[in-house]
This record gives sequence, structure tokens and C-alpha cells, in this order.
Amino acid sequence: MKTQMIEKSFFSYFNAKPKFIVRAPGRVNLIGEHTDYNDGFVLPMAIDRAVWIALAPRTDSTVRIRSLDLEVEAAFDLHSLSKDNGWVEYIKGVAYQLQKAGYELKGFDAVMTGDIPRGAGLSSSAAVELATALAFATISGITWNAAQMAKISQKAENEWVGVNCGIMDQMASAASKAGCALFLDCRTLEFQHAPLPQNISVVILDTSTRRGLVDSAYNERRNQCEEAARKLGVKALRDVSVEEFEKSSGLSDLVKKRARHIVTENARVLEAAQAMKAENIIRLGQLFNASHASLRDDFEVSSEALNQIVECAQEQPTCYGARMTGAGFGGCAVALVAEENAQKFAQAVSAAYKQRSGLDAAVYICKASEGASLVKYE
Ligand code: GLA
Repeated sequence: MKTQMIEKSFFSYFNAKPKFIVRAPGRVNLIGEHTDYNDGFVLPMAIDRAVWIALAPRTDSTVRIRSLDLEVEAAFDLHSLSKDNGWVEYIKGVAYQLQKAGYELKGFDAVMTGDIPRGAGLSSSAAVELATALAFATISGITWNAAQMAKISQKAENEWVGVNCGIMDQMASAASKAGCALFLDCRTLEFQHAPLPQNISVVILDTSTRRGLVDSAYNERRNQCEEAARKLGVKALRDVSVEEFEKSSGLSDLVKKRARHIVTENARVLEAAQAMKAENIIRLGQLFNASHASLRDDFEVSSEALNQIVECAQEQPTCYGARMTGAGFGGCAVALVAEENAQKFAQAVSAAYKQRSGLDAAVYICKASEGASLVKYE
């Protein structure tokens, strides 16, 4: 569907067929929140919503790209990149970082489209970055290394766009496998594809609230985690076990709460990976619930709407567990239910949330999809 649509659009803008179509997915994090920048563990999965780019190489160093969703076009020269504002900065940032890493890039003509809701915490920006990286890699003859491309994309976001994110979103978009979550060590970037339990649906519950202060609160949490690591004499909070943490002293009450979330969350991710392997959904659900409580009470990155939607989900007898997902303060929660109950669960949570908050939730019952890939295309 998307392939045909984007091919047609490319033709109408450039009067030729595209040479390649690439796609990179958004992600939902199952568990392991705010652990990535503490060198810890995360368990995200790529969702079946993505960014697509149809492109054809040019003989010069110009990149021309049309956003079908925003209905605007942008162009830049790979040899004279300068910072500006707007959607195309993600693309320029990746081009800049690829060249900084030593790659010679070819210019291209392209159209881009996507179906990841923007600003919802489902990593639409990481998807744009990875689709861009794959577009350049495909036409410039660069061998695709998921971890390396994720790091380059993260640098684009940190240094070009100016958002201080960790590595989880880019790794999930780059390295995921269909049907699996990505069990990732954010220190070494080693990962395993962890098959999702049979007959289980991952349900994304979008509160439809968006918060403006995410960036400053995110940086504040990062600083508090760094302070805790420094005071505990470790490189990162990843290096502290739950037992060691309980015996430790010297942290202020606030920093202690922040650190307790990270230390216990890392332990929950490790246990969640085991529970998935053992197909122990009950335990997995309990870990989801515990993660939410920790994010709400210790890390304090939840919000009223997120708490309400999570409670509405947890109150459903068919729900194994639910938690806020992503950076927090608004956006989405994630819940686990049996596949056969997913539709009814979605309806019941939407109705209960509407009654409690007065807001309309958007619900996505999603499938774990493949990471960034070249769409088969003739
Ligand atoms: C955002 C960041 C990620 C990660 C999460 C919280 O999505 O981009 O790197 O830190 O927040 O887990």
C-alpha cells in the first residue's frame, strides 16, 4: 500500500520511477525506562508504523526531499550544510554525521511519508534518522551496521538537532526483528532478539496529551543520575546492584529516589527478559506494573493522564500489566493482553479513560516489526 502510494508520489514530483524505497519503524519500549543513558538495559520493540523514503540517486551533491505529510519540500547541498529549524534538520544532521564519520555520500531526490504519530513518544524522529541513514547507505554503497548507524543517528539528534536522547530509540529502529523485542545492553550495544510470547498483544494507549517541558525535565533527570553515580563511586548507575544500593549512603533524598528507579528498573528488565523466554506473562505483567509505580513515585516522570490511562488498563481483568512508556510527562502507555481480548480491552480502556479524564485516547494494537530495511522493490 505505502509502497505504491510513495512510488506514485515520487513519479509525480520527479517524473521518474524511484530507484529504492527504504523504511524505518517507530518503537515502543516494553520495559527499561530512562535506563539507556545510565548504561543500562532496555527492552523495546519496533512497531508496525514507520517512515518510508522513496529515492533516486543524483549525480551531484544535492539532496532534494519532499515531505508528503507536511506538504513541503527542502533541498540542501551535502558539502555546505548549515543548521536551521524544521523537519529537514534530522536529515541534514544524519548527512553531517555520516560524512563526519568518513563516508562519502551521494545526493538524491526523494519523497518521504510516515504513519507514526508525531510527539507521542513513539520515536518518529529516530525513524526519520534511520530511514535517512539507510537511504544514504543504499545509494552510497555503505555496509549497513545497525549499531553504528544507530550511534550516528543519535549523534545527529544530540549534536545537530540538540536533543539529549539516549541510544534506545535509534537502536530499536535500526536493529529490531519482526516478532521480537530487542533486549539491549546500552553500554556495549550488544543485543538479542527476544521473541514475544505467543498470542499476546502489545497495546499502545495514547493519552493524547503532550508536554512541553519534557526536554528540561529529561536533562534534569540525567544530571541527577550522574550525580548519584559520582557519589556512589561508579561509572554509571548500571554498575550498582539492588543490594549494593540498599546498603549505600550519602545521597540526598531526591537523588536517592531517582537512583532507586534506575537500579530497580535495570533489575526488572533482566527479569522481564527471563520471563519472556519462559513465556511467563503473569510475571512480565507484574514487572510492567512495578515499573510504572517506580516511574510515577521515584523518578516522577509520569503525569495525571498517564496515571489515569494506566489505571484504566490495569483495572481491566484481561490486562496482564500496563505502564507509561517513553520519556514521560505525556504521550503513551503500553499494556499486555491476550490477543483474543485485545479489541475489547482497547474499547473498554478508551471508554473508562474518557470518563475519568474527559480525553479521547488513541489505541494501537501493534505487531513487533522489522528494523530499518530496504523495501523489496523492482
Ligand atoms: C526518550 C529518549 C530515550 C530514552 C527514553 C526514556 O525516548 O529518546 O533515549 O531515554 O526517553 O527511557
